[in-house]
Amino acid sequence: MDKLIVEGGHLLKGSVNISGSKNASLPILAAALLTDDPVRISRVPDVSDTNYMLQILSQLGASVERSSGTVRIDSPDGISSSASYEQVRKMRASICLLGPMMARMNRCTLPLPGGCVIGDRPVDLHVRAIQALGARVRVKGGNLVIEAPNGLVGATVDMRGDNGPTVLGTDNLMMAAVLARGTTVIESAAREPEVVDLANFLNKMGAHIEGAGSRTITIHGVERLHGCQHTVIPDRIEAGTFMVAGALISEGITINRVCQEHLTALADLLVECGHTVRFSEDGSSVFVAPGTSPKGGKITTSPYPGFPTDMQAQMTALFSVTPGISVVRDTIFPQRFMHCSELKRMGANIKMDNGTAIITGTDRLSGAPVMASDLRASAALVLAALAAEGTTEIHRLYHIDRGYEMLDDKLLGLGAYVRRVPDPKEPAAQAI
Ligand code: EPU
Repeated sequence: MDKLIVEGGHLLKGSVNISGSKNASLPILAAALLTDDPVRISRVPDVSDTNYMLQILSQLGASVERSSGTVRIDSPDGISSSASYEQVRKMRASICLLGPMMARMNRCTLPLPGGCVIGDRPVDLHVRAIQALGARVRVKGGNLVIEAPNGLVGATVDMRGDNGPTVLGTDNLMMAAVLARGTTVIESAAREPEVVDLANFLNKMGAHIEGAGSRTITIHGVERLHGCQHTVIPDRIEAGTFMVAGALISEGITINRVCQEHLTALADLLVECGHTVRFSEDGSSVFVAPGTSPKGGKITTSPYPGFPTDMQAQMTALFSVTPGISVVRDTIFPQRFMHCSELKRMGANIKMDNGTAIITGTDRLSGAPVMASDLRASAALVLAALAAEGTTEIHRLYHIDRGYEMLDDKLLGLGAYVRRVPDPKEPAAQAI
């Protein structure tokens, strides 16, 4: 295992290129199982989560080739309908195999994902969706055992849960429905850009999906899907993380290969807090610089196009050194505040109150040994460390490697003082 040593206080400058989206790639890679033709997917980030997904696909019998960001997947007849706990437990997002496995084989055995540090993360909506298409679901030996001996049949399904729509649940239902008999209507569908990217990919494979990106998605089932070529959208959370870095400690940085439309909520917030945010005319790059008199702000996370839960930890790091009082509330994962206790070890003034963090900005954080607890919490610690006085050691770096491609190299390119070194005392990577 590695740790990251960050010497804080150096102004970032220059430009950085954003990778393809991790959260778009994962369901798209799983969707390759929907055809026995080869598919080619470009700009798949080389992060451990996409690698776990590719390992699971290989284990199921698909052949996988990867070269410089492009993945070719070939899933001939005879792939297995049963995924192993050893593979699945490494990544909760492996639940998105449920839809394609059911569509392709009308049965699957998928280990139930376990607990997770960012919250309870149930799968009841995934189960409800596949049952609505006529499947029978049992839990046996820690596995979801799902069967639809007569095939899946289209239905109208409302995907809203207590905390809003579900992203991977919407993905699963869409993937299950593309080969089902008849029409499926998803009500209260997630509108995230990653759902739209998956729908675009499926349509390239010959699916008939309308309305992705809106609250209602309609899928007309087809007989078979075919191979295609697809390029994954830019990672809006990686882009957002660098935008926060630009507002936090830089002479101004340019972030390339972004999609402006996907960054509206964050860009608006940074501007409201007094920072400079300037998109290029075509919206594919953005310049961000700290404001001369920045002020705190208020965030309540909500489903897209609202403020993303995956960006609240990074904003908490920025608010920790922004004058005034800021308030961060996460309605999607109300327990996702593990980063706060580590930020406090660096001198941040944060009070927790029932799913809300109240942050009083301090002049300067100070470097400290800290522990990453999940992907976005780690990103928050890296940001805090860049701005802190002195040296910070971030342990359990494997959390960041799950979703940020070459983060240390990209930061070095922007002039940060960061160094990845082995951390032999750390335990092996844990699932999230
Ligand atoms: N929920 C249920 N029942 C379900 C599924 C979800 O109650 O069956 C709840 C969740 O507990 C949560 C809310 O619904 O309160 C939304 O969760 P969602 O299902 O949308 O989360 P997800 O699809 O499992 C994806 C991203 C997460 C991101 C969330 C929310 C991927 C691989 N993961 O997870 O990304 O936080 O949507 O936007 O796409 C990350 O990248 O760090 C990450 C955690």
